Amino acid sequence: MDLKSKLREVPDFPKEGINFIDITTVLQDAEALKQCIDQMTQEVKSFGDFDMIVGPESRGFIFGTPIAYTLGKGFAPIRKKGKLPYKTIGVEYELEYGTDTLEMHIDAIKKGDKVVIVDDLLATGGTTQSNIKLVEQLGGEVVGIVYFIELSFLNGREKLKGYEVKSIVQY
Ligand code: PRP
Ligand code: MG
Repeated sequence: MDLKSKLREVPDFPKEGINFIDITTVLQDAEALKQCIDQMTQEVKSFGDFDMIVGPESRGFIFGTPIAYTLGKGFAPIRKKGKLPYKTIGVEYELEYGTDTLEMHIDAIKKGDKVVIVDDLLATGGTTQSNIKLVEQLGGEVVGIVYFIELSFLNGREKLKGYEVKSIVQY
């Protein structure tokens, strides 16, 4: 199945000039969802052995957890400031206006863990850059990053030089 044909493009969302790629049309289609998770799982496996999947709130949870489950690994969430209940570390990241903070529990991964980061979409790469910082501050090693969708024209990979990056659908 051509997964790209199952994605919905919504013009002018969340604001004029942005062509939003809507993943819900894939999620709600049982066959497309299965194929998407299966393909992403294969990409994760291509990095070799690893210990944990890490995924950022909120769409990273949708894809990261079933892949972790399928491969018999744990899943560690990255959340926006103030959502995680235990001790956290945080990194600031740039938004269009101002900054926000992403956090991870200090014991979410162990020192030396090999980590794969999973998210729905690579756009500018800013989110993933922050995710990498969090994992590395906790002593983890990012052995690969897998996305469902990559917006190649935004050159997000430039920010991720030196890391293994895979995506299923490209624009
Ligand atoms: C979106 C998307 C990625 C990120 C990609 O998340 O799910 O995580 O943006 O953009 P970037 O490469 O420019 O950082 P968003 O922050 O909108 O939050 P959500 O997942 O909770 O919808
Ligand atoms: Mg997101």
